[in-house]
Amino acid sequence: MAGRISFLLGDGLRDLEVADPTMTVLNYLRLVERRTGTKEGCAEGDCGACTVVLGEIAGGRLAYRPVNSCIQFLPALDGKQLITVEDIGSPSGELHPVQQAMVECHGSQCGFCTPGFVMSLFALFHQPGRPDRARIDDWLAGNLCRCTGYGPIIAAAGRMKDIAASDRFDSREQDTIAALHRLSAAPAREVEAGDGRRWFAPRRVDELADLLLRYPEATLLAGGTDVGLWVTKQQRRLDPVIHVGEVEELRRLEIGPEGFEIGAAVTYDRLLEPLGADYPDFGELLRRLGSTQIRACGTMGGNIANGSPIGDSPPPLIALGARLALRRGAERREMPLEDYFLAYGKQDRRPGEFVESIRLPRRDPARRFACYKISKRFDQDITACLGAFNLKLEDGKVADIRICYGGMAATPKRALECEEALIGRPWTKATVLAGQAALRRDYTPISDMRASKAYRALVAEKLLLKFFHETAGAGPATRVLEAARPAHA
Ligand SMILES: Cc1cc2nc3c(=O)[nH]c(=O)nc-3n(C[C@H](O)[C@H](O)[C@H](O)COP(=O)(O)OP(=O)(O)OC[C@H]3O[C@@H](n4cnc5c(N)ncnc54)[C@H](O)[C@@H]3O)c2cc1C
Ligand code: FES
Ligand code: FES
Repeated sequence: MAGRISFLLGDGLRDLEVADPTMTVLNYLRLVERRTGTKEGCAEGDCGACTVVLGEIAGGRLAYRPVNSCIQFLPALDGKQLITVEDIGSPSGELHPVQQAMVECHGSQCGFCTPGFVMSLFALFHQPGRPDRARIDDWLAGNLCRCTGYGPIIAAAGRMKDIAASDRFDSREQDTIAALHRLSAAPAREVEAGDGRRWFAPRRVDELADLLLRYPEATLLAGGTDVGLWVTKQQRRLDPVIHVGEVEELRRLEIGPEGFEIGAAVTYDRLLEPLGADYPDFGELLRRLGSTQIRACGTMGGNIANGSPIGDSPPPLIALGARLALRRGAERREMPLEDYFLAYGKQDRRPGEFVESIRLPRRDPARRFACYKISKRFDQDITACLGAFNLKLEDGKVADIRICYGGMAATPKRALECEEALIGRPWTKATVLAGQAALRRDYTPISDMRASKAYRALVAEKLLLKFFHETAGAGPATRVLEAARPAHA
């Protein structure tokens, strides 16, 4: 029957009629299930108080990911396992090893953030291996605490696997997998909610293409880390919604000798390692994009499609010569990514068209690539200025260079004047000075709450200089993290 979705809440089956297709998972938990352990802090994915864990089958095993329930919509739970802080202790009242570690390390004072931390740590508990300090810091960057301070919580993260190496979720893994298989045998492809609004969750790309021709006005939803806020912050009423997150072809990540083919619905957490192996700076950039919760849901397809001038992936992708594959009905076209961004809020995408994939070349040992993100905070912050550089030197001269900045114009934009000023000239400080002067012709940045136009213009010039120092060996490279230094620097 249209309108029903099924998922596991802890171990219990839920088979529901959806009243409101954009009800958040957080509101569902607190208002319908009356599970008030999960808290609301910001309602925009920033604080982590609402963190819950989603379980899905991946490669025959159960994979647990922490997500922000405040910006995830209820129908996206179809076929998955949702675990909240109420689920993790034993039925007889024993604490989960994560909770026990928090108690032993004094990891909670007012307690408002605690369920979110506990759920992030629960997901970390289920990752392979013992987390080291760097991994713990990264993992918890999306959880804010105002009173305990992070020391005791980080200590609890280090201690949890000493208390127990596995838990009852591990013991039940095969039963949970079997239950999820039963649910996914009959996925809800179409939900007509109680309020008359429609939610579509196609499984194949041809279905998606047909649906978008029928409903060209539909809102496409991938990870919801932008779209979720249209509902929670802008109170927008979306109808219909087409969820692309379950489309098999769009979830594919193919890595061949020629390049990466990244399906539009591939989440950042799957990209970080393979992209980082070829392009360490790209990996480092993705490590700082949002938080573990945001990277578990957010996609590069969504980052490009939203057309933001401060999205983090377009500048490095453009510098690396990425191409975008678009589809409308049976018609496919491909373009250099920079051609997709036409003006502020305007992209080269026709009604009924969607982003299918992003194509990116493998690392060319003859080229040097670097990118630098400047933001007020190191982790989980929106970019003020981002510079990406891809250089080919021959006999000490610039044979080719592609430069792209974010945050400097109404779209992510190549620095064509600067490139022209550099190509064919020796890779020296004098050439870089000419490049810096050209950057002033390339961009007229604006002032906003993230940075003034003067700051943006200056930092863009300094990033070019930094790239020169790192590639010419003319001075020490400055990186916040030693591990983030490119292998070739
Ligand atoms: C707390 C927080 C921190 C963040 N930090 C960063 C950050 O550091 N850097 C950064 O760049 N961004 C950041 N973001 C923004 C966001 O996470 C990214 O833009 C993300 O890549 C969006 O992907 P998504 O899958 O969630 O997109 P969604 O929210 O699902 O969709 C985004 C847009 O893309 C469209 N869309 C989605 N898929 C397709 C498709 N296949 N074809 C056509 N259109 C499509 C949607 O209709 C919508 O317009 C942050 C967001 C939050 C909430
Ligand atoms: S309530 Fe702050 S991240 Fe969800
Ligand atoms: S214990 Fe109070 S906010 Fe973390």
